[in-house]
Amino acid sequence: MVFTIELKKVWKIYSNGVPVYALKNVNLEINSGEFVSIMGPSGCGKSTLLHVMGCLDKPTKGKVIINGRDVSKLSDEELARIRNRYIGFVFQSFFLLPVLSALENVMIPGMISGNIDEEKARKLLEFVGLKKRENHLPSQLSGGERQRVAIARALINDPKIILADEPTGNLDSKSGRDVLRLLSRLNRSGVTVVVVTHDESVAERAERVIYMKDGKIIGEKA
Ligand SMILES: Nc1ncnc2c1ncn2[C@@H]1O[C@H](COP(=O)(O)OP(=O)(O)O)[C@@H](O)[C@H]1O
Ligand SMILES: [Mg+2]
Repeated sequence: MVFTIELKKVWKIYSNGVPVYALKNVNLEINSGEFVSIMGPSGCGKSTLLHVMGCLDKPTKGKVIINGRDVSKLSDEELARIRNRYIGFVFQSFFLLPVLSALENVMIPGMISGNIDEEKARKLLEFVGLKKRENHLPSQLSGGERQRVAIARALINDPKIILADEPTGNLDSKSGRDVLRLLSRLNRSGVTVVVVTHDESVAERAERVIYMKDGKIIGEKA
């Protein structure tokens, strides 16, 4: 299935306190099957862009169009439904629940959407190379292993797109490479991947690199 995300003249202004212009008139189109990396200095708006793209947050102005539908004014509930159906997130700090096993962590999104599929969670752990770690708690796993559990979790609802925010930021270089290889493999299997990173080697792997500065997209390498 074709899957597209379009941002049209998107602004994000945080106004809790002194207004912060985090996104300034951003236009961007992400198409099915792409591997896109987003680079830029700390504070330039990369995470905000990912959150707006992924319906975790709404733009202050402008449109976010997913599969031709403007979602920028939908209710939080409707946005949650879109996230559940299409989007998988991976964060720098994993966000695994410490009291749940690897397998249970992978099943969480299924618990929320009301379809728990233990067999599928097992297969996903196998896919990320953690078949033998099913019953481990996050504290019993290395950073790279935790991130791979988080990736398996992001895949449980068959997302069309994975949005990864500095997924290798807390990992040593070998684990980081493993995680990136995994994201590439996913991309080859048809999942669109957008990765925010500081790492030039990630950017080399991506077919599109988008450069941001001060809330704007300032360039792109294709
Ligand atoms: N919830 C928030 N409230 C107020 N300001 C925020 C919030 N989130 C981010 N910002 C500000 O918006 C700007 C962009 O932040 P962010 O998108 O996190 O940048 P990056 O991911 O590139 O480091 C920064 O100046 C940051 O301080
Ligand atoms: Mg960030």
